[in-house]
Amino acid sequence: MTREAAVTDGAATAVPVRGDSLVEVRDLKVHFPITRGILFDRVVGHVKAVDGVDLTIPRGRTYGLVGESGCGKSTLGRAILRLTRPTSGTVVFDGIELTGLPADRMRAMRRRMQMIFQDPMSSLDPRQNVESILIEGLQAHGIGADRAARRKLITRTLDAVGLPTWALSRYPHEFSGGQRQRIGIARALVLGPDLIVADEPVSALDVSVQAQVINLLDELQEELGLTYLVIAHDLAVVRHISDVVGVMYLGTLVEEAPSDRLYSQPLHPYTRALMSAVPVPDPDVEDRRERILLAGDLPSPANPPTGCRFHTRCPWAQPTRCPDERPELRTIGASRVACHWAERIASGELRRHEVTAQLVRPEDAGDTPGTLATPSEPGSFV
Ligand SMILES: Nc1ncnc2c1ncn2[C@@H]1O[C@H](COP(=O)(O)OP(=O)(O)OP(=O)(O)O)[C@@H](O)[C@H]1O
Ligand code: SF4
Ligand SMILES: [Mg+2]
Repeated sequence: MTREAAVTDGAATAVPVRGDSLVEVRDLKVHFPITRGILFDRVVGHVKAVDGVDLTIPRGRTYGLVGESGCGKSTLGRAILRLTRPTSGTVVFDGIELTGLPADRMRAMRRRMQMIFQDPMSSLDPRQNVESILIEGLQAHGIGADRAARRKLITRTLDAVGLPTWALSRYPHEFSGGQRQRIGIARALVLGPDLIVADEPVSALDVSVQAQVINLLDELQEELGLTYLVIAHDLAVVRHISDVVGVMYLGTLVEEAPSDRLYSQPLHPYTRALMSAVPVPDPDVEDRRERILLAGDLPSPANPPTGCRFHTRCPWAQPTRCPDERPELRTIGASRVACHWAERIASGELRRHEVTAQLVRPEDAGDTPGTLATPSEPGSFV
């Protein structure tokens, strides 16, 4: 049964096929050109927003993506949906290579790949009522035989996201933030997608409403066998909802692991720093919690550091390999980790040391690797 049929029938009967992959991303790069010039623009460099990402999203599961602001999470999500054209690399969706797909075939694929945005207010047209918002996509994709069939479909979708039928005649400003996000979810869901990319789906909502929306996403996944890529700053949100979590740093994945594993045993120094900023409810554990403050801000993706991109901030960086040899993402147990020294750090053989933040003048940013400013906490990211 298709997702569309599952929603149409109002029966939560779609059985998720687990185990195989829905999305396979290989060596994906998105480099935005930086241009300068008075009469003619010339390319003077590139922002390497995504720079060689490999990941697989299992069907019916949730892949959580975390990382500091500007590390390339949204660009990666958009490139997977081909809303941003990749510079190179491939995205295979349900066995179909998307990167070389002609526009007409891509349009047909779009129905199966939807996005939920951070701010439902700005992503919903204030001049359209909910019915018109939901019907628009159905018409664009030729779903529903006639108006009555489409209305039936949107009424059932609205019910699935916990909104009453009278909402159809209302406008986005008449709803609360949480309700607006439900409309955003309904807009994606009504098309019967297989994949939903949710970019910061709850960060614009009150904490009290966040859990309701996360639970709704969870329930819909369970009922309809949806596959999610969830992008979030909030590590607690990602942990709750994800089966697998990927940690991004400056356009690359530095660690990926099953959710519980990543939180209980982070292996990459950057992941360890992020996790160390998350408070633990148990006061005894909280007292013993390792706290790692990272020096400096994220370097510029237009001019990433050589070698390991994290070496300018890494409390375990070594004089050999780290500054000049880029670590591959390699498998260690259930995790994939891009660190030359992960095993020796995990065993305690290599110890943490102080890192001094380097102050780089703005005019140097294009010439020097690692533009660091004043020290900041990883806590600013969560
Ligand atoms: N269209 C674009 N043109 C040029 N640069 C871009 C464009 N979109 C994003 N960037 C740059 O690419 C880098 C990654 O941006 P992106 O929005 O993907 O990061 P992010 O991890 O989603 O950040 P945030 O958590 O703040 O949403 C940033 O340096 C950003 O300025
Ligand atoms: S490779 Fe070196 S700099 Fe990079 S994370 Fe590992 S120890 Fe740190
Ligand atoms: Mg973003």
